[in-house]
Formats: sequence, structure tokens, C-alpha cells
Amino acid sequence: MTLRPTDPRWVEAALAELPVLLVDHAHCERRAAQTALRHAARWPEWPRLAQRLSRLAREELVHYERVLAELGHRGWPMIPLVAAQYGTLLFDACRPASAPASGAPAGTLGDRTVDEMLVCSLIEARSHERFVCLKERIDDARLADLYDDLLEAEARHGDLYLELATEVARGDVGPRRDELAAHEAKVLTRIGQPIRMHAGGH
Ligand SMILES: [Fe+2]
Ligand SMILES: [Fe+2]
Repeated sequence: MTLRPTDPRWVEAALAELPVLLVDHAHCERRAAQTALRHAARWPEWPRLAQRLSRLAREELVHYERVLAELGHRGWPMIPLVAAQYGTLLFDACRPASAPASGAPAGTLGDRTVDEMLVCSLIEARSHERFVCLKERIDDARLADLYDDLLEAEARHGDLYLELATEVARGDVGPRRDELAAHEAKVLTRIGQPIRMHAGGH
């Protein structure tokens, strides 16, 4: 499964609105940390999850601070932004909770958990893909370095969430990931959205 490649129109539109893109990027990094900790809080009995997602959350907070520092360096104010609802629309597509796999704690792990891990994996993979697109096209050495520094971690986070989804599913999650990836591509390219890291440009 591969993500649908970013439309070059998004890259051009994003490069024309760098202050907004960077502010949204900061919000995305903070939200990624919050999402990881929310999962760790929801499934405290999942042995590997808390350790690994805690580490992931720390990395996201380092990214958050790095982007905040870049905004400060440029004199671009960090402001509230209306979110693109990208994550919300992806999580809305997750299946409802179902009976947990045999041996898993009752009432916790099941189809919904698999889907949520897959959605997180897609979001992280998309961040990686967009950082690559931006790095290749941007005419700004500091931001090119920023995207280059962050993209490896986002790819790794995508792999981690995919690993966790596979662990819960105890089987092949490829077909379900493909379904969610098709949905992700539609959400990403909704018409008429303002420029965001995961929206706009169409
Ligand atoms: Fe990040
Ligand atoms: Fe990440």
C-alpha cells in the first residue's frame, strides 16, 4: 500500500502561504503528542504501547518546540487556527468497537483499535510524504533543513503504528489499510479547504 502522491497544486499553494503552513505544522506536532498519550491512557494494560507511544510523544513535543522556535526566529506569531478536520474525518471512518481478540483485555482491543492505529499510521506516513514534497520544492534553506530533520521520525512513527495495528489484529491488516488509505486520499483532497499541512490546494 502506498499513499496517493500529493498533488503538486498543494505544494505550490502551501509554499505561497508559509506562515500559515508553519503555524498549522506546530499545531499538528502538538496534536500528534496528544494523540499518542491519549492512546497510552486508554490502554494502560497494553504492555508495549505505553513505552513506545510515550517515546513517540516526547519526539513530537521536540518537533513542536522546534517549529515554535522557527516561528519565533521569523517573527511569525503562533496563533489559533481552525483545524482541517483531517484527523477527525479519518477517525470517524474507524469501525465501532468489537469483541477483543482472544487473550486481549476485555472491552479494550478490537476492530476499532486496529483502525485507530492504522489511521495514526496513515497520518504519520502522510506527514513524511508532505515533508519530502516540501523539502524538494522549497526555496528556503532553514525550512528545507527542518523538513529534512523531521521526516525520518514521521516515517518511523508510521511504521510503529502499523506494527501496533498488526499486533492487535493478529493478522494481515493490509486490506483494511488500503481501504482507509483510499478514504484518507479523499479527505486530504477535499475542495475549498484553506491551506493546512493536510488540506487545501484544490
Ligand atoms: Fe512530528
Ligand atoms: Fe510523528
